[in-house]
Amino acid sequence: MAAMMTVEFQNCFLFILLCFFTFLCYALFFKKPKGPRLGCDLPPSPPSLPIIGHLHLILSVLIHKSFQKISSKYGPFLYLRIFNLPIVLVSSASVAYEIFRSQDVNISSRGPSPIKKSLLLGSSNVINAPYGDYWKFMKKLMVKKLLGTQAIERSRKFRADELDQFYRNLLEKAIKKESVEIGEEAMKFTNNSICKMVMGRSCSEENGEAERVRSLVTKSTSLTTSFFLAAILRKPLKKLGISLFKKEIMGVSRRFDEVLKKILVEHEKKLEEHHQGTDMMDVLLEAYGDENAEYKITRSHIKSLFVDLFVAGTDTSMHTIQWILAEIINSPKILERLRKEIDSVVEKTRLIQETDLLNLPYLQAVVKEGLRLHPPVPLVLRTFQEECKIGGFYVPENTALVVNGYAVMRDPDIWEDPDEFKPERFIASSRSEKEDVLKFIAFGSGRRGCPGTNLASIFIGTAIGMMVQCFDYNIKGDKVNMAEAGGLNLTMAHPLQCTLVPRTKPFQCNL
Ligand code: HEM
Repeated sequence: MAAMMTVEFQNCFLFILLCFFTFLCYALFFKKPKGPRLGCDLPPSPPSLPIIGHLHLILSVLIHKSFQKISSKYGPFLYLRIFNLPIVLVSSASVAYEIFRSQDVNISSRGPSPIKKSLLLGSSNVINAPYGDYWKFMKKLMVKKLLGTQAIERSRKFRADELDQFYRNLLEKAIKKESVEIGEEAMKFTNNSICKMVMGRSCSEENGEAERVRSLVTKSTSLTTSFFLAAILRKPLKKLGISLFKKEIMGVSRRFDEVLKKILVEHEKKLEEHHQGTDMMDVLLEAYGDENAEYKITRSHIKSLFVDLFVAGTDTSMHTIQWILAEIINSPKILERLRKEIDSVVEKTRLIQETDLLNLPYLQAVVKEGLRLHPPVPLVLRTFQEECKIGGFYVPENTALVVNGYAVMRDPDIWEDPDEFKPERFIASSRSEKEDVLKFIAFGSGRRGCPGTNLASIFIGTAIGMMVQCFDYNIKGDKVNMAEAGGLNLTMAHPLQCTLVPRTKPFQCNL
């Protein structure tokens, strides 16, 4: 009798558990999206599977390519669902322009961070901060005091030093006939330049500080795909008490914290000794100590901002430098034209410098064309805060927005020979500025667009200019392999490796 009761009790318990699980699945995965509302339908949607929705369509290592494939089959404006996360996918320049123009404020948040306390893409980071007082304060600080024209001019000497060092590193390897990993050297240049702009001195190579920051940036970039998945699955998994990739993300965050805490303390000591500094850390500490500031920032905000600048600024520029040099090596005619321009403006007696860039329109066009074809951030991610109507379709509130910049900038309806590297397209006189805004979105768009655009153009322009001015390149085989690697950032599957031959007499220091 007692045994029977135990069996019945077990069955009953299993039955309740099953009911609970079914209810949970229903609540988590089968909740119908709102709509149609505002008198119109949701945007078109490809056929989906139960529970996972459209997840199977984007499960590929090259996520931007999967999205591009879906749009070329089903259209440039789509409504997708991954589990219970609704997504609007935009892949044409005209729809992207319409959304950025008419919904700028509505799409000025990226959605909640899956791991709030992390210094990497946590809730204190500008990149992830919701559109509100904190973001507005930091944006103003970035535009006016950290990355604006005057601030960039003030820190010019730091970057000139680093460009010179970059040249010297390449020259040394060229003389020794050593093979060079261009990405590795370019990373030292961008990372050391940002380190100097942040703290007024280089990260020390001797005590391993520089290498630590570089490896943290690389690790952070490799975590972005995990982060994307964590953000997509955040809602359903949170309800089950699971936080994806928390251990890895918090590990990187802690290591960043150690490095930045040291720099902060170093600067605070200098301030106590009445040292008047002008680097980015000094500017942030001034805002931190300002009792009347519009927003009272914390030390955690300062550290998070610097993680943003390291992560958003170094890898992106480094990958673009690598892609562009690869394109140039593969196109001797472009190399020749570029060299002619640089030799005529800079001549062969000194190294190219930032102030030359304005007089080098073809170099600027090469940089822009490289960013168009190989945008290091191919997907722009935002969230619709409120429901709205776009192109006659209804978009519910809290829908994620994915603008596939990679597809927009290769849209065959807008770009002639979209897959070809043709810098001339950016110097054609028929081009209007509006057309540019409409089509070129390598730096995103609107108020949430990249605040580092000018700095990035300087990094890439001077690096490519110096490499074209000073060296010839030998690679294995006839052409550089331009295959793309997987992940959320657009990187080369086969990092560019070559041997260099100096084509100018060694220059004296640039300063
Ligand atoms: C080739 C270089 C770069 C590319 C292609 C790039 C691209 C982007 C893109 C696509 C976004 C998202 C924009 C949007 O949502 O509309 C972004 C955001 C951002 N970028 Fe860049 N970026 C580059 C370099 C830099 C540099 C050098 C810095 C600063 C040191 C920087 C700092 C930021 C920050 C702080 C954000 C977040 C802005 C916000 O959410 O308000 N980026 N970048």
